[in-house]
Amino acid sequence: MTRAISLHDVSKSYARGPRVVDRVSLDIAPGEFLVLLGPSGCGKSTVLRMIAGLEEIDDGALFLDGEHANDWLPADRDIAMVFQNFALYPSMSSRDNIGFPLRIEAPAADPAPRVDATARLLGIEDLLDRFPGQLSGGERQRVAMGRAIARHPSAFLMDEPLSNLDAKLRNHLRAEIAQLTRELGVTTVYVTHDQSEAMSLGDRVAVLRGGVLQQVGTPREVYALPRNVFVAAFVGTPRINLLRGLVRAPLDGAMTVSLGKQYLRLPEPLSLDHQLLRVQQGREVIVGLRSEAVRIARHSAARPGEVPLTGLVEHMEFQGHETLVHFDTGSRPAVVPELEAPRPAARAARRRRREGAGVLDRLRERAGSLRAGPVAVLEQPQETVPEPAPPEGRLPGDLVVRTTPDIRLRHGMQVPLLVDLAHLFVFDQHGDRICPSPARLPDLEE
Ligand SMILES: Nc1ncnc2c1ncn2[C@@H]1O[C@H](COP(=O)(O)OP(=O)(O)OP(=O)(O)O)[C@@H](O)[C@H]1O
Ligand SMILES: [Mg+2]
Repeated sequence: MTRAISLHDVSKSYARGPRVVDRVSLDIAPGEFLVLLGPSGCGKSTVLRMIAGLEEIDDGALFLDGEHANDWLPADRDIAMVFQNFALYPSMSSRDNIGFPLRIEAPAADPAPRVDATARLLGIEDLLDRFPGQLSGGERQRVAMGRAIARHPSAFLMDEPLSNLDAKLRNHLRAEIAQLTRELGVTTVYVTHDQSEAMSLGDRVAVLRGGVLQQVGTPREVYALPRNVFVAAFVGTPRINLLRGLVRAPLDGAMTVSLGKQYLRLPEPLSLDHQLLRVQQGREVIVGLRSEAVRIARHSAARPGEVPLTGLVEHMEFQGHETLVHFDTGSRPAVVPELEAPRPAARAARRRRREGAGVLDRLRERAGSLRAGPVAVLEQPQETVPEPAPPEGRLPGDLVVRTTPDIRLRHGMQVPLLVDLAHLFVFDQHGDRICPSPARLPDLEE
């Protein structure tokens, strides 16, 4: 038996504070592996705890197999939860740790056959007589998983179960979890803030921001058709390039998206997607270019649909199998505040100078940076001190391009780039996607 789990407009706040989960609706099919993805504090664990019955639901409804379950006791939900800080009983062997929930559930039955079968499934037969203190982190995690599995629950809820482990072990166990839950065919809701984990594990991924569900879709859908700039920026490595642009139709009639000192000229006749930009004329937009949308090549080598851009090499990141080249194209980056890693102060100051926004602009942006509201595009909205004009010449990179590791480039070199407009994303001022068309259906993607 595996459960269908449905949330209908579920909300939650703590101690009359703001909603930390805000009208979340989700339908999880029996046997599905759904990943809840979002930055720290966005409400992922709270959603999970409400499904488990460990947290009350303020508003909205939870359905388990179609039955209204808001008031069911946790024990009646037949759901097993695996936490980040998996707690094993230190005075019990692995065998007893795994068997413990079975003994509680059916005191008269012998747990041994189930414990053995579970241990075989997880490859931990030789660990059964050891105590938690005699196990490595990964082994302990497997025993904790065993404790959840042995009961044959009808759903698993996993809250960042791998985040305490080192990268190699995490990758290994990630693959095991995926295989195991598929073999068992049990509905699983898996919480993580790691987008690559989400993309590699989920049948579908639900992206949460400030308690508000942003998008639910297959990993391919959220990558290729992100509903807004937040999802676009959260999913995918290297991070999508987000540049502030302005839609224009100059005198000769061709539509362009200007990016500071340069512009992208949209080829005529306009594609259906690019036609949608007409109504944005004169408005600021956010241009999104994933690394596959830009390549280093002579402008004369442009293929149909590719338009030229020029970048100054700012910085190179050697990654072994590839190199990430950071270019300065003279455009201004758009920023999603929750997703910004802190930058060295000098670099941030340089960038702020370049943004050169006035006080009014900043206040407007600050007003726009409310939790689930429009995406603020300034780096540090709390800063209201006007900055001097940008220094000409050396500016930090605004466009990251992926290339082969053997590329020979030097800092400051001027490099021709080609942008593939088939991969162009454009978001409006609120961060909602305008291009490709929001009406684009995932199954129309090639
Ligand atoms: N018991 C509580 N009382 C008050 N506020 C709480 C409580 N539990 C969580 N919160 C707040 O609710 C918000 C959502 O918390 P939650 O634990 O669901 O986030 P999360 O997405 O799981 O974050 P993380 O990735 O850091 O685990 C946070 O702002 C948190 O501070
Ligand atoms: Mg959490």
